[in-house]
Amino acid sequence: MTAVVTIDADRPGPTISRHLYGHFAEHLGRGIYDGMWVGEDSPVPDVRGIRLDVVEALRELNIPNLRWPGGCFADRYHWRDGIGPRQDRPALINTLWGGTLEDNAFGTHEFMDLCELLGADAYVCGNIGSGTVQEMSDWVEYLTGAGRSPMADLRRSHGRDEPWTVRFWGLGNETWGCGGNMRAEAYADLARQFGTFCRSGNETPLYRVAAGADGADTAWTETLMRVVPEIGAHPFAAVPWEGVSVHYYTIGGTWTDKGSATAFGPEEYWRTIVAAQGVDDLLRAHAAVMDVYDPDKKYGMVLDEWGTWWDVEPGTNPGFLYQQNTLRDAMVAALHFDVFHRFADRLTMANIAQTVNVLQAMLLTDPDGGPMVRTPTFHVFEMNKGHHDATSLPTHVAGPSRAVAGRDVPTVSASASTRDGSMLVSVTNVDLDAPVEIELQVRGGVVSDATGRVLSAGSAAAYNRPGAADVVSPVGLDHLERTPAGLRLTLPPHSFATVSATIQHA
Ligand code: AHR
Repeated sequence: MTAVVTIDADRPGPTISRHLYGHFAEHLGRGIYDGMWVGEDSPVPDVRGIRLDVVEALRELNIPNLRWPGGCFADRYHWRDGIGPRQDRPALINTLWGGTLEDNAFGTHEFMDLCELLGADAYVCGNIGSGTVQEMSDWVEYLTGAGRSPMADLRRSHGRDEPWTVRFWGLGNETWGCGGNMRAEAYADLARQFGTFCRSGNETPLYRVAAGADGADTAWTETLMRVVPEIGAHPFAAVPWEGVSVHYYTIGGTWTDKGSATAFGPEEYWRTIVAAQGVDDLLRAHAAVMDVYDPDKKYGMVLDEWGTWWDVEPGTNPGFLYQQNTLRDAMVAALHFDVFHRFADRLTMANIAQTVNVLQAMLLTDPDGGPMVRTPTFHVFEMNKGHHDATSLPTHVAGPSRAVAGRDVPTVSASASTRDGSMLVSVTNVDLDAPVEIELQVRGGVVSDATGRVLSAGSAAAYNRPGAADVVSPVGLDHLERTPAGLRLTLPPHSFATVSATIQHA
């Protein structure tokens, strides 16, 4: 099989925000506790209670931002429970996720410490479902207040003089569901109210994100977007948010029978690929609504939860959402990023759910102290990090497809970007059985010094585990040659590759 991938090097597109490679860590299962926070007395090597191996691995990804504390947990979280001396913090049961004891050891200061260690921006999701406007406004002041104020002084009394820079704030989460079961109109009013009272306490302006739709519910997005011409035109009123979110999970089965992360056949595999490709339609539909009210694209679309969701691993707490991560998950991630790059003019942020030990994780830690494992998804993030803040290049694929349940499913996906005289191309072959030869045609530029890496394995169900941590990890791409039009490469079945090259624009 062959595919022609055409890249227009002389028609630069919008910048691919690094925030499209954002992350998400919720107080859920072993995501925070054990996954990131082990406490200062732990035998696990840590910095002030934050585990070192995780920090070091995540730094390899240059993670741009981290969303916290939820998720559904955010609309139950009262931030004052998580400040001050740890022994004085209240303990409660996390009834939402697994019924574990939440002792609030990981709170605001610990989260900001983690962000600083990672070099990532904080994205704090406020509590709209069960909190008050005053509570959220106080949290913003506590974190960002530069001058004298009760909240800034409270922060100082807990050992932090300087305000933090926290740009990103979520105005609740999934308020159509776990965040309050609200109607769109009721939530839109609350978002206006909460957003109005979230004011930065220092010179960094806030980027407030209104909690968005469940999947394809464009009516929800429309209800939120109507505020733009309405309020924006009033001389004394500013639109109370800068972005609108949406969530989209790739479910290979159904919500009640999602299927195993590792034991799947061709049918489940292809259903997953089709579901992952569905993110394109989803973003297109929401973007079309946003375009009506905001043709100049001043407001952003924020996909602040995405990724695969399988049945939990046998024997684990169903409320912990712990799942394995195979090469199939890597295919899903790679397909998403190509779509994100195409929507770079509207999509300002995306956050994979979730970073460690929960859903489509980058890292899986061992509760019994064994070595941590980088998942296949981790490697897609790492191989693609050259796209962060690079200029997108229009990319067109003419390639093979497979008939799946009566529809044509394209099996090759690609995207490209450029920065400082170099070009990065990402290419995925989702075909389960067939390799594909890719003719990379670069229009308006001449490429040289090309090198490539490929992520693949003998089976799409392959995964990494302690003792076999590199079953799925990138290796050099052998079949890469220059052609008069650009480059030629061959990709094995179910594989993802990146090609870096020097480019001279014509
Ligand atoms: O990521 C797990 C959960 O999925 C989040 O808490 C919620 O927002 C979504 O439904």
